[in-house]
Amino acid sequence: MSDVTQQSAWADLSKLAEDVKQTHMRDWFDADPSRAEAMQAQGCGIFLDYSKNRVTKDVLTALFSLAKAQGVDAHRDAMFNGSTINTTEKRAVLHTALRNFSGKPVMVDGKDVMPEVLATLEKMEAFTQSIHSGAHKGYTGKSIKQVVAIGIGGSFLGPKIMTEALKPYTHDAVKVHFVANVDGCHIHDVLASVDHEETLIVMSSKSFTTQETLQNTLSAKAWFLKQGGKQEDIAKHFVAVSSNVKAATEFGIAEENIFPMWDWVGGRYSLWSAIGLPICLALGFENFKGLLDGAHAMDKHFCETPFESNLPVILAVLGVWYRNFFDAQSHVLLPYYHYLRGLPAYVQQLDMESNGKQVTMDGNVVNWQTGPIIWGSEGTNGQHSFHQLIHQGTSIIPADFMLPLNVPNQDDTHHAMLASNCFGQTQALMQGKTFAECYADLDGKGLAEDERKALAQHKTMPGNKPSNTIMFDKLDPFTLGALVAMYEHKVFVQGVIWQVNSFDQWGVELGKVLGNQVLDGIQGKVNDDNFDASTQQLIRRFRNANAPD
Ligand code: F6P
Repeated sequence: MSDVTQQSAWADLSKLAEDVKQTHMRDWFDADPSRAEAMQAQGCGIFLDYSKNRVTKDVLTALFSLAKAQGVDAHRDAMFNGSTINTTEKRAVLHTALRNFSGKPVMVDGKDVMPEVLATLEKMEAFTQSIHSGAHKGYTGKSIKQVVAIGIGGSFLGPKIMTEALKPYTHDAVKVHFVANVDGCHIHDVLASVDHEETLIVMSSKSFTTQETLQNTLSAKAWFLKQGGKQEDIAKHFVAVSSNVKAATEFGIAEENIFPMWDWVGGRYSLWSAIGLPICLALGFENFKGLLDGAHAMDKHFCETPFESNLPVILAVLGVWYRNFFDAQSHVLLPYYHYLRGLPAYVQQLDMESNGKQVTMDGNVVNWQTGPIIWGSEGTNGQHSFHQLIHQGTSIIPADFMLPLNVPNQDDTHHAMLASNCFGQTQALMQGKTFAECYADLDGKGLAEDERKALAQHKTMPGNKPSNTIMFDKLDPFTLGALVAMYEHKVFVQGVIWQVNSFDQWGVELGKVLGNQVLDGIQGKVNDDNFDASTQQLIRRFRNANAPD
């Protein structure tokens, strides 16, 4: 992997960017009626229109050349083959093995991991069935009706957001609640709303060291005992998902109640593992399997499709184009589907924890931009707030619009309005509205000439703002699995192009360590002068406010 800025494709792209910056997408659409048809791709039930991007055929050719020159093919193969591509943690990266239904082995350190993966899926299926059928009883003989899933980061976002996105597939046997934050308000509210005799706690932590998850589980355990449960009853009400079985058993979880995962599954890629147990409980195992099937189909698409029609690769290189040649700071995700409203937060962790990096794989500081800020929320709500900045602000913010063509309980008027807003936004972003058009609109409005010109200036929409439109028939488990895997692979391709390790998260780790040290400071276990003056002051103010009377 060589310095990306030294690639000849990089130099070509720099030159092409100068020309493209002088051109308006409107003119390309006027000049070429086949543009929309030429700039589309599909796979696994997902359709992508990327014609409203500031790219020409030459730009795309150079972007694909850059991806090839950076070795995307070889890196992809290395990931799927179980090579130790997470070099700083000396781990393979094999979330794809969790959804590998090819029947082929996947080797890590000379051992096929597939038997363990499949055995864990069987365990998840059997457990889910025992809960749904009522065969698994709580300690007083009642069936489980409520599940409280405790975890944070990847041990929370995937399960919660996929469950939410697939609401129409909800199984009616249990209600699943999710708790992540260590802010006690949340766990207390949730526990206050459930009956301990009918409640199962699913504690999910890959490392089993995460402060928030351990504390929330301790609070749940204390609540269970206070409500009348005994220590020996815990086995019927607490299960854990972790790669750290030793720590989980030491914590008090019965060994048979631990669902394993492996260090070759990154936290933000873990929803496909037993971390997905709350999804099974909420939706039924067959729907969880549907997610895995969709992701597996996208893995095949990613591995087998030429770059020019490869969904994750196209999205990745477009992102590189704006980040590195247009100085785009952020990328916005706009799902026009209420149930998919959590996707921006999901992709935020996936992308920002993966590619928020400043050194290359070999430890040199990069001199190019890496991962963008990911943000967004459901449409049409954003149209009445932050879209203003996307339309007329001074930054370029590439957008992914998403829309299902069919929705559950379809009301044709609502759905047509939703779709028209989605398409209308992409059109407005692309076309804009010229000063001349705005000036003409103000004819006959009784304005003085100066006033008319000034107002027309305010109303002028530059347009030329890029967007992708991603559509699918309906958001079933298969399609959602494919959609999420598409973003995983997009992030992977960008990481390869930028030469970063997309699979570690040292910045996050430092925060965890310092958080624990400060806790010691707050609890008076270490001296205040261990901290800088500002932090000392904050700790003292907190301690004074919480001092016993
Ligand atoms: O906070 C960062 C992180 O390490 C994420 O990568 C991970 O998903 C999350 O913490 C939770 O970690 P664990 O599953 O080990 O509790």
